[in-house]
Amino acid sequence: MIKCSLKKEIMNTIRNRVLAGMRPTGRLHLGNYLGAAKGMLALQDDPDFDTLFTVVDIHATTTPYDQKTLKASARDVFIDYLSVGLDPEKSAITIQSDLSDLITQLSFYLSSVMSVARMQHLPTFKEKVKQHPDNVTMALLNYPLLMAADILIYKASKVPVGIDQEPHLEIAREVARKMNERFGTDFPEPTRFATVGEYVPSLLGGGKMSKSVEGSSIELDDNLDTIISKLKKAPTDSGRGNKVPVEGGVANLLQFVKLFEGEDSRKHYEILYTSSGIRYGDLKKQLAEAIFAELKPIQEKRVELEKNPEYIDKMIALGAKKSRAIAEKTVEEVKKKMGLG
Ligand code: TYM
Repeated sequence: MIKCSLKKEIMNTIRNRVLAGMRPTGRLHLGNYLGAAKGMLALQDDPDFDTLFTVVDIHATTTPYDQKTLKASARDVFIDYLSVGLDPEKSAITIQSDLSDLITQLSFYLSSVMSVARMQHLPTFKEKVKQHPDNVTMALLNYPLLMAADILIYKASKVPVGIDQEPHLEIAREVARKMNERFGTDFPEPTRFATVGEYVPSLLGGGKMSKSVEGSSIELDDNLDTIISKLKKAPTDSGRGNKVPVEGGVANLLQFVKLFEGEDSRKHYEILYTSSGIRYGDLKKQLAEAIFAELKPIQEKRVELEKNPEYIDKMIALGAKKSRAIAEKTVEEVKKKMGLG
């Protein structure tokens, strides 16, 4: 209770604000959980920080999507946020489009200081162009500026995200610097808050766990049987050798062991690898149980939350109200500084 009212007081200053978001492009997976949600939770529980979180549904429209299901998907991710332990009383949690008037407006103003060439050279943009060659739109090019607007609209200085988001944060810093130089605004240059799971590998042996790569992920709502069968498919080797692999399927499995069973367990398997050998059947079973033990309370909380849709509606509205008050102030300030207000 004390912490809650303290946080409300801090809300009125611009010190140490945190903003993080996730796209509603499917249910959350372990990458989202370890790379982002864990950091969001740590900062929510830190009295030095004011935390604002959002489900970025407008970002989802920058790649091919289904407009019939987007609203429900955004609500699903909002419920996932609450299920993992984000607390709408301690943090301001929004669905981005509830503030579309302010965020897209700021994003447009920010675009006035960034060159087209800079945006086109971004590795994340080039990746998306490869993935969706028929969808190279202005919205896609503007994606990082919409993300910068999400952050800068609250003058947030810390952003708990996975390492894959670093190029986007670089843009947010650059745009903050340029706006401050050109118009005299006071945007902080936001930095990433990293977790131990800042890069969660794919189950397939290469690349990162991702919603867009079939079979690469474990979802937060997977049951024990599903986790076991997904891990069964993860590539391994003979279990024995002179040197523990540093990349590929075995390295990834050992990374999961570290994340869910701790560094000591990983060391234990590393020793086995160079001595009597690892029995992957046992490793995978134990790992699946450790993963499920962490997911079970999240799944139980979700079942409870789903029984109370009115509460969810209320919390979505509360988040929008809290965030709007801050966002309106920033947009007014920027308009004035740009000679528009
Ligand atoms: P998105 O929706 O792709 O992912 C949501 C969060 O999950 C993290 N993540 C991972 N972390 C570690 N290992 C992985 N395999 C993994 N996969 C996903 C992402 O780094 C991210 O933190 N552009 C953002 C959404 C966004 C945003 C923002 C984030 C829009 N506006 C403002 C922070 C602040 C994105 O596409 O995340």
